Amino acid sequence: MTLLLKGGRVVDPSLNRDEVADLLIKNGKIVKLGKDLYKANKAAPDIEVLDLRGKIVVPGLIDIHTHLREPGFEYKETIASGSEAALAGGFTSIACMPNTNPVNDNRSVTEFIRRKTTECGLVNVYPIAAISVKSEGTFLTEFLDLKDAGAVGFSDDGKPVMNAALMRRALEYASSLDMPIIAHCEDKNLSAGGVMHEGFVAAELGLSAIPSVAEEIMVARDLLLAEFTSAPLHIAHVSTAGSVRMIREAKARGIRVTAETAPHYFTLTDEALRGFDTNLKVYPPLRSREDRASVREGLSDGTLDVIASDHAPHARTDKEVEFDYAASGLTGLETSLSLSLGLVADGALTLLSLIEKMTVNPAGVLRLPKGGLAIGADADVTVIDPDREWICDRALFRSRGRNSPFHGWTMKGKAILTIVGGTVRYRDF
Ligand code: DOR
Repeated sequence: MTLLLKGGRVVDPSLNRDEVADLLIKNGKIVKLGKDLYKANKAAPDIEVLDLRGKIVVPGLIDIHTHLREPGFEYKETIASGSEAALAGGFTSIACMPNTNPVNDNRSVTEFIRRKTTECGLVNVYPIAAISVKSEGTFLTEFLDLKDAGAVGFSDDGKPVMNAALMRRALEYASSLDMPIIAHCEDKNLSAGGVMHEGFVAAELGLSAIPSVAEEIMVARDLLLAEFTSAPLHIAHVSTAGSVRMIREAKARGIRVTAETAPHYFTLTDEALRGFDTNLKVYPPLRSREDRASVREGLSDGTLDVIASDHAPHARTDKEVEFDYAASGLTGLETSLSLSLGLVADGALTLLSLIEKMTVNPAGVLRLPKGGLAIGADADVTVIDPDREWICDRALFRSRGRNSPFHGWTMKGKAILTIVGGTVRYRDF
């Protein structure tokens, strides 16, 4: 099967390319990228030609922070439904966090996820294994065994590693395997009982709150440990100005740190919680306007390397309760790209640097052989219609999670074609 993507604007940060070109895909691989490939190839047997004038052709998008809930919480999401959501959002590769039931802290769970992924045959799913047994923060998991089983990184995401000595050892072992530790930065003593950001709005609403320093104190600690151990550290879901500042300084000093934020942190603030919509309850919480501005600055100046959705699907029964009791997290796979394109429309990022944060940079964090359109690469490709306006309707989500605060929003820009390993898996035109 041969596929010719004709006349699109090809944007590939790994090749530093942004130009109108044709892309030829054969047997699951990128075969050629260049001008006027049509004439030379139109007679090829079995060729499908797609006219993509006015569309943007990018390496398949990569989301390194998702919660797929399987095994154990299939009523919230499954590997299959999460993969369908990924395709609709333009993602060809996703990594999934280990807070399943059982926790992905051993070879059999990692192998189960990989087996299910192969059975689904939709997107590439890369398991992230737990740092500590049951993510309880007491004993390290078997890093080498988990790597051997297919894990691509380690994280206790959803929970912080409160014990600094355990975090130190985790960094040392992961570094010896050339794998990242992905830190969920939250001091549990400072955040205890909080359900939203500590500030004026929390006082007004009478909700218990989580101060910025709950995140920042752990960012500071983990940066110190990364410096001390020379190990690669990736900081998940950065939400505060102080975190951005410290990561910027750490990078300037040569510490091996990468960092991500999620679309809700550069789009929303704690002010949105005035309606008590539990779909806005998320950890870390939505912060102040100043924090949002700093997160955007961090994206612009390269302090924040990656945009990840932190796709956290929950069932209605988890969310349709009083704010204090609601599960935290929001679905993101199907809105992440459109919200991120907003950064380009606002002039905060160029298209090339946005795509960098959604392809080659996340691939680099997890050392995935993905994220570019070089000749010979796996043909994972996403096509974006930058002008498509659509209204976010959670009833139409592929995800089982309907917990999106963006329901009803008018969005601009959308993935219209998602190709994984040379096969069209999603098409919306
Ligand atoms: O709000 C959140 N939800 N934050 C996390 O860190 C975990 C996630 C989840 O698993 O639902």
